[in-house]
Amino acid sequence: MTAEDHAESWSGFDNAAELDRCWQELTALARELARESIADRFADDPERAESFSIEAAGLLLDYSKSRISRSARDTLLRLAELRGVPDATQAMFRGDRINESENRPVLHTALRDRSGRTVLVDGEDACALARAECDRMLAFVRRVHADEHRGATGEPLDTVVNIGIGGSDLGPQMVVEALRPYGLKGRRTFFVSNVDGQHLGDVLDQLDPARTLFIVASKTFTTQETMTNAASAVDWFLASGMAREDIATHFAALSTNSEAVQNFGIAPDNTFAFWDWVGGRYSLWSAIGLSIALHVGADAFLELLQGAYAMDRHFAEAPMTQNAPVLLALVGIWHRNLEGIGVHAVLPYDQHLHRLPAYLQQADMESNGKAVARSGRPAPLATGPVLFGEPGTNGQHAFYQLLHQGSDKVAADFIVAARSQREMGDHHARLLANALAQPRALMNGKALERVNDELRAAGLDEQAIAVLGPQKVFPGSRPSNTILMERLTPHSLGALIALYEHKIFVQGVIWGINSFDQWGVELGKELARELLPLIDGEGGDAAASLDPSTRRLLSWIRARRGAR
Ligand code: F6P
Repeated sequence: MTAEDHAESWSGFDNAAELDRCWQELTALARELARESIADRFADDPERAESFSIEAAGLLLDYSKSRISRSARDTLLRLAELRGVPDATQAMFRGDRINESENRPVLHTALRDRSGRTVLVDGEDACALARAECDRMLAFVRRVHADEHRGATGEPLDTVVNIGIGGSDLGPQMVVEALRPYGLKGRRTFFVSNVDGQHLGDVLDQLDPARTLFIVASKTFTTQETMTNAASAVDWFLASGMAREDIATHFAALSTNSEAVQNFGIAPDNTFAFWDWVGGRYSLWSAIGLSIALHVGADAFLELLQGAYAMDRHFAEAPMTQNAPVLLALVGIWHRNLEGIGVHAVLPYDQHLHRLPAYLQQADMESNGKAVARSGRPAPLATGPVLFGEPGTNGQHAFYQLLHQGSDKVAADFIVAARSQREMGDHHARLLANALAQPRALMNGKALERVNDELRAAGLDEQAIAVLGPQKVFPGSRPSNTILMERLTPHSLGALIALYEHKIFVQGVIWGINSFDQWGVELGKELARELLPLIDGEGGDAAASLDPSTRRLLSWIRARRGAR
């Protein structure tokens, strides 16, 4: 979908006429700029590298390798103003019920605000609530680390299994991986998410029940996968010779649903709460971060919060022209809506960030993968892109072929630390050289003339050159951002995640959608509930009402599973 498909569709908005004018200016600019290359933008503007980069909370964002000109940037900033980004930002931080379809505030920012600021939700201070529960959780962490909270047989609890899915898995797992060098000696942390029993089974095989703390992490405490895995973990625990009363020592729960936790039988002392104003995919800063804190320690967890807080303050206070999340969001709007680029690659040049793309898939695609606006009308523009990624340099030997020469353009974020968490010979210099080379290659490309000269120099005849030359051309002008940090630390990681959270928020505001609900996940869950009894039970009438394709698949499966 390109800009033109949507040019008329601001009509449902209060300031539709102004938005329309602004949008027309943007589309005209996009058309004009499309005639030039990204590299031309640097030739026209010697200050571009400085002007199109910004430092915030210890990160450097370079967004210069896009077609956006200074006037295009000004016009994008006007669009953000017209869409009310500054007011919407304040409304989020203030605790307004901006998640309208679920009638909730959106206050993951309160989880990392330990400044003493007050944010009232139903007469209670969300920051104070968050701080108190975080402190209670960190006291538990310290007790486990000090072996004051031991297993039922007196062994230290040095192994943690986090059972959760989506936001109750991806964030903590990504952070535990990213902060591997900060991991406390002798501690092991596992994550089980999939309802596929192989996932839990493979982890259980590696455990000593006497040394294991299971964390059941679920905002709702009703998620089918998590509750199934938790029940099977309890069965395994009891079958391994531990007593039912030992569950009180070996199981912890993280949830907003205290009643369901109690019914499950987890002790209140090991239960850590959060609130419905924390979205699942924004929850790693809450009690959902228990596995992180157990892995890296309370101090590193607090540094993670501080890094995010630094980005929060920047986002809340910096003018839009100097605001990293706003600018990152606007560059994304340009790629998505003015260049029609529907795919976004997240390319961390850091092995320890290998789960970042998966984490951002949920953060971005579950937040902004919506085609209907808050008003119930179609969104005015195409919304969230498909997001994927792998760490560099691995991706270079896999899918970068398509990034450089594929039919569709992909916008990319390169995420790079100047210094490694683990220096080893010249590895990091090599990694950095690759991290800087790829965005250059994407931007500059390689013209046919140069390719042909090289082929001629290699001795190919003109006929062979005519065939091979075009295949070796790199079209260039493929956009990317680069985000630099000095080193991947709890602080810089916190800032990086918050940068993306706020980018996603700003884009949602511009597109007029609610980034904080997720109705699109419900239908599949509903249908799975209906299908479950048909897998191994009686087929009966219910199977007859299925569509023919599903019916045939089911019958094939049932035959091989020996179902009646
Ligand atoms: O199905 C999607 C979802 O609701 C996510 O938004 C959420 O992060 C995940 O499921 C897990 O939910 P819970 O933490 O309630 O188990």
